[in-house]
Amino acid sequence: MQNIIVSKFKEIFGTGCALYAAPGRVNLIGEHTDYNGGYVLPGAIDKAIYVAIKPNGGAKARIFSVQNDEMAEFRLCESDIPAFQWARYPFGVCMEMIKRDGRVEGFDAVVSGDVPLGAGLSSSAALCSAFAFALNDIFGCGFERAELALIGQSTEHNYEGVKCGIMDQFASIFGRKGNIIRLNCNTLDYEYIPFDPESAGYRLVLLDTRVKHELASSAYNRRRESCENAVEAIRKRHPEVEVLWDVEPDWLEEVRGEISAEDFKRAEYVTGEKQRIQCFCEALEEDDYETAGEMMYLTHEGLSKLYEVSCPELDFLNEVACHESVTGSRMMGGGFGGCTINLVGADRYDAFVDAAKTEFAAKFGHEPSVYDVVISDGARKL
Ligand code: GLA
Repeated sequence: MQNIIVSKFKEIFGTGCALYAAPGRVNLIGEHTDYNGGYVLPGAIDKAIYVAIKPNGGAKARIFSVQNDEMAEFRLCESDIPAFQWARYPFGVCMEMIKRDGRVEGFDAVVSGDVPLGAGLSSSAALCSAFAFALNDIFGCGFERAELALIGQSTEHNYEGVKCGIMDQFASIFGRKGNIIRLNCNTLDYEYIPFDPESAGYRLVLLDTRVKHELASSAYNRRRESCENAVEAIRKRHPEVEVLWDVEPDWLEEVRGEISAEDFKRAEYVTGEKQRIQCFCEALEEDDYETAGEMMYLTHEGLSKLYEVSCPELDFLNEVACHESVTGSRMMGGGFGGCTINLVGADRYDAFVDAAKTEFAAKFGHEPSVYDVVISDGARKL
């Protein structure tokens, strides 16, 4: 992959590029909690977006995407938003850096990667992180890593219209090999937790439904609004509440009649997830993967029935995991398609993956893709 990008750069722009990578992510637990001020437990993976890049001394950015076989060219000003959808991410990153007084100038770049698109592995966050990290380095902007993650998040908000939380960008920038990140999304305080299920006889595997449902981003934004509606109602009685994470379970009950049944269900999921994360973390500390796995199943149920961000394909894979005695399984990421994440005893692995492929193909006409998870380093210069 690296060689292809560098030789493509040579072919189009000449020699002397620098090469950067930023990975996709998995998340063990803590779904739809980041924009509610809660905890998440992501880790970076061994699939990344790669950028070969060099300042060009001019006022324009020129970016060739190997995957799309398209060249985007834009001036570094708001009015020159590129037509290609993929190019809006690096464009947005440039604009967000400039807004924060980053001195970004013209550059040439070639981009590609092996993060599966639309699989819930945060390929777009990886794309933003790769450019933010690379531009920060080649132009000496001096942004801290946390700022680079926030630049990626603002790009999603302001140039893609997705009001996402900070989890994906943070994981892509801060990932560390062999560790997951326990991130407080309210304060951005974080700690690395060594994560080595294999030493305890378990494996982590993703099953990709290879479906992406329409309108996922507007449905995502509506979930966020529901949570905000619940906070607003609760704050009338408990003014100290700023995010849903601050809410005690009985405080939610107090406003049951004051918010819509839909908003109530969404908030109920989030308060439940708060308890599950706590239980999951305690279990992990004791290498109690069985309890951790139970929490994953409960999270799936909440995401499916209360938060309603699952889909038939994800629910089906979750059921297969359950009847194949997989330790833990749930849909992962924003939802409406993408992957399930599965914590499976090493001795159950082959039977599970075979059953999932056969049964899924019989029902939906194609096999799910299978990705073994390797927890890897975050954004870096190669
Ligand atoms: C997407 C968003 C994240 C997060 C997850 C759900 O991946 O980009 O910020 O909200 O969904 O946990």
